[in-house]
Amino acid sequence: MEDKSLHKFTGIYELEGHLATCNLNPGVRVYGEKLVEYEGLECRLWDPRRSKLAAAILKGLETFPVEVNSKILYLGASAGTTPSHISDIILDGMIYCVEFAPRMMRELLPVCRARENMIPLLEDAGKPQNYLKLMEKVDFIYSDVAQPNQTEIFMDNMRLYLKDEGQGMLMIKARSIDVARKPRQVFREEASKLKEHGFRVVDKVDLEPYEKDHRCLVCEFAF
Ligand SMILES: C[S@@+](CC[C@H](N)C(=O)[O-])C[C@H]1O[C@@H](n2cnc3c(N)ncnc32)[C@H](O)[C@@H]1O
Repeated sequence: MEDKSLHKFTGIYELEGHLATCNLNPGVRVYGEKLVEYEGLECRLWDPRRSKLAAAILKGLETFPVEVNSKILYLGASAGTTPSHISDIILDGMIYCVEFAPRMMRELLPVCRARENMIPLLEDAGKPQNYLKLMEKVDFIYSDVAQPNQTEIFMDNMRLYLKDEGQGMLMIKARSIDVARKPRQVFREEASKLKEHGFRVVDKVDLEPYEKDHRCLVCEFAF
């Protein structure tokens, strides 16, 4: 019988009407999320109001190329809420978590310590060449830095660290770029910028009602 609890994406479950991932660190919560039992496994319910990735999936994202052995670069890891759910999925992979705020890094460190597939990097994502020696090429880049130059930061890291066949996900926060312009106009201009610089947008979803004025774009090299 088909397992109705598995989502179409690898390692993601639908339980009690919520998204969930299987806890890599049983008994431990990262951000106060609910733990539930499913077929002898402990799962963590994934809150779309705390994680834009969960919001994007619930809003109908079609492209999420993360597999059990994926290598991932995560920009703006904060206290590890979303990175920890990705860590639950990539059991044979690795997630490099870039965060430049020491206060957030202090919260991220215990999460990384308890999970062998999470590596914390106290670095500025706007200076990607600074962590060249600590990194390898990756299959997927996730960027959620909420900065005025968030698209440039994403593109610079894509050029330096993404494998040719890889993909990246950019969470655009319109108000971080320009509070005065309409979000739709900001989204259009950022998408044009990506195209001008040799990237193709292969998927997009808006994150309302979970996040206001945010759009998720999935991109790859246009070659
Ligand atoms: C919206 S929060 C990210 C939330 C996180 N992605 C999650 O879902 O769990 C943005 C984070 O990006 C970090 N950040 C902003 N600019 C950065 C930069 N240039 N380099 C590294 N981290 C940055 C901030 O300190 C903040 O923790």
